[in-house]
Amino acid sequence: MLVSAKEMLDKAKAGHYAVGQFNINNLEWTKAILATAQENNSPVILGVSEGAGKYMGGYDVVVGMVNGLIKDMNITVPVALHLDHGSYEHCFKCLEAGFSSIMFDGSHFAIDENVAKTKELVAAAHEKGCSIEAEVGSIGGEEDGVVGAGECADPNECKAIADLGVDFLAAGIGNIHGKYPENWKGLSFETLDAVQQLTGELPLVLHGGTGIPADMIKKAISLGVAKINVNTECQLAFAEATRKYIEAGKDLEGKGFDPRKLLAPGFEAIKATVKEKMEIFGSVNKA
Ligand code: 13P
Repeated sequence: MLVSAKEMLDKAKAGHYAVGQFNINNLEWTKAILATAQENNSPVILGVSEGAGKYMGGYDVVVGMVNGLIKDMNITVPVALHLDHGSYEHCFKCLEAGFSSIMFDGSHFAIDENVAKTKELVAAAHEKGCSIEAEVGSIGGEEDGVVGAGECADPNECKAIADLGVDFLAAGIGNIHGKYPENWKGLSFETLDAVQQLTGELPLVLHGGTGIPADMIKKAISLGVAKINVNTECQLAFAEATRKYIEAGKDLEGKGFDPRKLLAPGFEAIKATVKEKMEIFGSVNKA
């Protein structure tokens, strides 16, 4: 059964570890992440961007697939199904479809409008027993057409949004989606510390988990980060494993073209990436 992400993240914040949000794109992705969470006895959050939701056929398909896998794979660790960077309208659609968690990305609105919309969505999510994440200070890079400049959040704005009753908060601290450029300045721990001072026990979220060195991840966790989002790294691992398989001509050997064989190396690569992240985040055996 899907659960809200609130309890698992409150536990993570108190226990000084982080739960991974791994974004899903299809059946193989979802199976690989759920199997790895179960094998490592780790809570997990499945992230779905609006684009990925559309790609998979719609939110009802996603909810049906995830609930079916949880049942048929006998998954017993806590799993949350979370809308990633949702618009106001899509947050309502996902709550309706059966997601257990949503993120409202109002970071591109003026703070007053972000506050008003977040307030409304907090009430709607909580009424259904779902958790809600909000964002202050846009995360850099591009994700499904949402482009952010990688700014650092204003800690006072974070406090204003936190006070609306959101369950966890993404604060921009110089992190960006996708690969980090050579000249990336690193995370602003000063900003993170200032945000945590004002938001107290609220679990903080680090987007753009791909390519952040393990020591920076651990420092961020020590300063209140309890949820870390990873997307690109699983995509890169999947693509590389598939390319190797094809370059070696294995798709043309025997029944190598059978999708169950063709996609198997990518499936294993996602599992290995997710396991490595769960170890770094410290969520293994925390289910
Ligand atoms: P990456 O693609 O950089 O791992 O970021 C994922 C993310 O933050 C999803 O919201």
